[in-house]
Amino acid sequence: MPGTTSSSSPRRILVTSALPYINGAIHLGHLLEHIQTDIWVRYQRMRGHQVIYVCADDTHGTATMLMAEERGMAPETLIETIRAEHARDFEGFLISHDNYYSTHSEENREISELIFTRLKDKGLIFTDEVSQLYDPERQLFLADRFVRGECPNCGAADQPGDNCDVCSATYDAMELKNPRSTLSGAAPEIRASEHYFFDLPQYQDFLRDWLASGAVQPEVANKLGEWLEAGLKPWDISRDAPYFGFLIPGTADKYFYVWMDAPIGYMASFRNYADRHNEVSFDEFWNAGAATEVHHFIGKDIINFHALFWPSVLDGAGFRTPTRIHTHGFITVDGTRMSKSRGTFINAATYLEYMEPEYLRYYYATKLTGTVDDMDINLDDFVQRVNSDLVGKVVNIASRCAGFINKQFDGLLAGHLDDEALWAGYQAAASTIADHYENDDVGKAVREITRLADLANQYIAEHAPWQLIKEEGQRDRVQAVCSMGLNLFRLLIVYLKPILPKMAAESEAFLNVDPLTWADLDTPLTGHRVNAFKPLFSRLERKTVDKLVDASRVPDASQAQSTPDPAGPAANRAAPEADGGFISIDDFAKVELKVAKIVAASPVDGADKLLELTLDLGDEQRRVFSGIKAAYEADALVGQLTVVVANLAPRKMRFGTSEGMVLAAGPGGADIFLIRPDSGAEPGMIVR
Ligand code: 2FM
Ligand code: ZN
Repeated sequence: MPGTTSSSSPRRILVTSALPYINGAIHLGHLLEHIQTDIWVRYQRMRGHQVIYVCADDTHGTATMLMAEERGMAPETLIETIRAEHARDFEGFLISHDNYYSTHSEENREISELIFTRLKDKGLIFTDEVSQLYDPERQLFLADRFVRGECPNCGAADQPGDNCDVCSATYDAMELKNPRSTLSGAAPEIRASEHYFFDLPQYQDFLRDWLASGAVQPEVANKLGEWLEAGLKPWDISRDAPYFGFLIPGTADKYFYVWMDAPIGYMASFRNYADRHNEVSFDEFWNAGAATEVHHFIGKDIINFHALFWPSVLDGAGFRTPTRIHTHGFITVDGTRMSKSRGTFINAATYLEYMEPEYLRYYYATKLTGTVDDMDINLDDFVQRVNSDLVGKVVNIASRCAGFINKQFDGLLAGHLDDEALWAGYQAAASTIADHYENDDVGKAVREITRLADLANQYIAEHAPWQLIKEEGQRDRVQAVCSMGLNLFRLLIVYLKPILPKMAAESEAFLNVDPLTWADLDTPLTGHRVNAFKPLFSRLERKTVDKLVDASRVPDASQAQSTPDPAGPAANRAAPEADGGFISIDDFAKVELKVAKIVAASPVDGADKLLELTLDLGDEQRRVFSGIKAAYEADALVGQLTVVVANLAPRKMRFGTSEGMVLAAGPGGADIFLIRPDSGAEPGMIVR
């Protein structure tokens, strides 16, 4: 089978994405990770492997307690409300979790207690006294983010409890001068209490070996290697009451720190799933030495929790360690951090009010590299990629061929493949594309797939079924060419299915086939009847993106900026308006130029300079009035290629409506140039 990495028995794989905190809505950042994970999961499923993909909300900590208090709700009610919202948002983006659970579950409590007890029995837990700031009014210990005061380094006022926004010094909250609790405004006291520690230094050698095993990307192994060199410190895994979480066994007022039970939430979510599905058992996936696989997808800010603490805790408690940690970088939007004041802090639910989830899935896919490099979402590029690749290249193939097959041949595909070499070239790409999916290098897979789509479009343009159909005795050729086109389209859908599951399902309905898998790359569809074709994607308009940004904008920037903007306030300033007769590059980027073939041309009665042109833009025909009569005989234009402004609003003219504008270069009059016919251009091509 093409692309098979010769796995005769299916792999059994448990996959997780990091657990979102319940204190906020799902946004573009979460979606990057879940879409990345989901693409990997769906790819593995298409290869016939058994994958269980679980996630949950990360619910514990002081913040949950305070939030529930503020809303006058029981924390459990709050948690369930938000969990349902998060699950719905992910479903909206076609994320195929098998279970979306909560860390506040009985399964999690049990496993957390079990792990703690086993660690303790093995001498991996000890207690020590810790001094911390305490709010005497609210009667609780203050995490760093609930304290502000003067920077011990530069004296700047009103600085956070861990590092100074002015001089960037890092410090302990107890070093702040004149500290204040942000919860009550009271001056905190220093109080000591007993804490529980996991003895991480005992795992120094183990971690060195584990990091060398290929479980993390090389750049991650290097970074963690530096930390190991510097020496590991014991990890504080407890918090004092009041706290929202699980009590530590044998104590009355000590809770597991949220980061202790959060990754255990992966196991708990899986356990909850396994208890309802006989075909999987918890032990097969979590016992030490299990032959199954466990893959965690995370952001680079939480590497220490997943690649230092987590494997050590698992091993200490007699469980297996993760097979692989897939770490990604951060996202920026148009070059800076997501910002509520700029409207680029975009929530999943808001996005879904404006556009298709698969636009974002596709765009993220084009940007995934399998490294920890940050990724920029450029909104113009987003629109461009969706329109030029998805609509202009992939969907174009089906829309160009389906009409003929449906209308002229009652949906029946030819009994043979017209171009075996082209077909073989498509199949030959399978193993490269498979490797890219396996290694999270999805951007490269997409580039390979769009290269294939270009080949299909070229093939169709060369054989021009729209010409053949007019020629005597060429009906069979039309059927052969369009059937070939649809077969190539089908393979592209196999390759794209992990990224675009909804489009794949709609294509399967059109092609009248069972759900496509990687194995379908082996066989063409011949002598097969397809169903009526419905448009798969419509073009994405920049103004739709602008509306989304407007809807996401929170006007009071100082209140709204949930992440500090490293670029400073200047980054919030709008780009200078177009001036002095120039348009900005942003304005230019809005112009969509496409190659068009002139399929008919005629003079316009009563107009000296105008010709009425019928243009073929690949997937549609347009009527355009163009002032090039002095330069060309109408008849001589038929069959020529030109460039057209495809997204110009239709203009009502005296002679009819013009649906675009033809571009031509030259001094005017008789010297106006169109595209040379031998230039390789073809209708529908985007001009950049
Ligand atoms: O950083 C975060 O958003 C955490 N809530 C991720 C937890 S992942 C896992 F360890 F639970
Ligand atoms: Zn400072």
